[in-house]
Amino acid sequence: MMESSVSSTHGAEDSLVQCTESEDFAPSKLGTKEYWDEAYKRELQTYKDIGDVGEIWFGEESVDRVIRWIEAQHVSENAAILDIGTGNGMFLLELANHGFSNLTGIDYSKAAVELAINILEEEGFRNVKIQVEDFLNPSTELKGFDVCIDKGTFDAISLSPEDREEAKKHYVTSLRTVMQPGGFFIITSCNWTKEQLLQIFNPGT
Ligand SMILES: C[S@@+](CC[C@H](N)C(=O)[O-])C[C@H]1O[C@@H](n2cnc3c(N)ncnc32)[C@H](O)[C@@H]1O
Repeated sequence: MMESSVSSTHGAEDSLVQCTESEDFAPSKLGTKEYWDEAYKRELQTYKDIGDVGEIWFGEESVDRVIRWIEAQHVSENAAILDIGTGNGMFLLELANHGFSNLTGIDYSKAAVELAINILEEEGFRNVKIQVEDFLNPSTELKGFDVCIDKGTFDAISLSPEDREEAKKHYVTSLRTVMQPGGFFIITSCNWTKEQLLQIFNPGT
């Protein structure tokens, strides 16, 4: 069974849960766009056929846990929140259900974006912005976020068969570009320990 760790950074080194030790991991197809395009094409078709929203990565409890944490920080319902690699958009849906109103989701898979838009619209949330973006090369309009969430996306990027050290560096640079100074970054990961994440994202700098 995969264990997940959740870390948040906001200057101080606080975290939601203790992380587990991670083992070294090899490059994988989960680190490729082709994999996600195929996966979300299938999930989109399944959603259209039978209304199944597809995989909830790390389970619903992981989403609830992050939302409880955000609410405990008294983050305003108008805060600009970005879901990085939103997939089927279920995190955005839960945030919208909790009253958060300034939500953006991005994913580099067009099929994922279409799936997320379909699900959010079906649930009556037409004002959630969901767009195709490669987070490693974000558009200049993607900026000013008070809260950035990542559930499984940095993990996927870390599995890239290409130059993953470079990819990780790009991710950190993009994060700095899109976040407001003093914003929150909340990451759920099953590949990295809390200590590793704090080292990679170096909060407070
Ligand atoms: C493990 S899935 C998690 C999806 C979603 N966060 C969730 O919890 O259901 C990883 C997601 O990251 C997206 N992704 C991977 N690399 C990306 C990149 N460079 N830019 C944007 N999205 C990316 C994939 O398309 C996929 O939707």
